[in-house]
Amino acid sequence: MRTLIEEGRIKERIKQLAAQISSDFDGHEVLLVGVLKGAVVFMADLVRELKCPCTIDFMAVSSYGMSTHSSGVVRIIKDLDHSIEGKHVILVEDIVDTGLTLDYLCGVLRSRKPATLKVCVLLDKPSRRKIPVKVDYTGFQIPDEFVIGYGLDYQELYRQLPYVAVLENGGSH
Ligand code: IMP
Ligand code: MG
Repeated sequence: MRTLIEEGRIKERIKQLAAQISSDFDGHEVLLVGVLKGAVVFMADLVRELKCPCTIDFMAVSSYGMSTHSSGVVRIIKDLDHSIEGKHVILVEDIVDTGLTLDYLCGVLRSRKPATLKVCVLLDKPSRRKIPVKVDYTGFQIPDEFVIGYGLDYQELYRQLPYVAVLENGGSH
């Protein structure tokens, strides 16, 4: 395992993202929608730095397996608890890789008529993109390597690491 982004750098970057979001929404109420489970750690830290009034909700999705995943079909395992109509929504995700998950989720959320819909990701692997996704707030761009920690898992493990690391020998995708 090799550290890619140290704990201090993540903390610092989250403060900057939160300052940007707080200023963009300028006192308006924001609804953070986290994608389970990977976004939990990032979202918990992000929400505590926000200055605007905000509520949180979660969705869980799963892909149907590789062949279908590559066609962009994602299944909603857990939907939001409340309507998002007329709300300022920020979709929070751990990482944007091919973009299929975020593209699908943005489509679903947009159809529910939020006042605004923004996307915030901790990590972005631009070289892997299959579908363009507009990401409004990005923590870090990273190379095409499989990463773990700070919410990201390999076979459900390593989510609790306070930093982001590259998992060497395994975790190929
Ligand atoms: P996308 O639909 O290909 O953009 O997939 C995004 C999802 O794939 C993320 O929410 C992660 O669950 C998973 N993923 C992509 N890259 C990594 C990685 O390097 N480490 C851990 N999970 C990853
Ligand atoms: Mg995920």
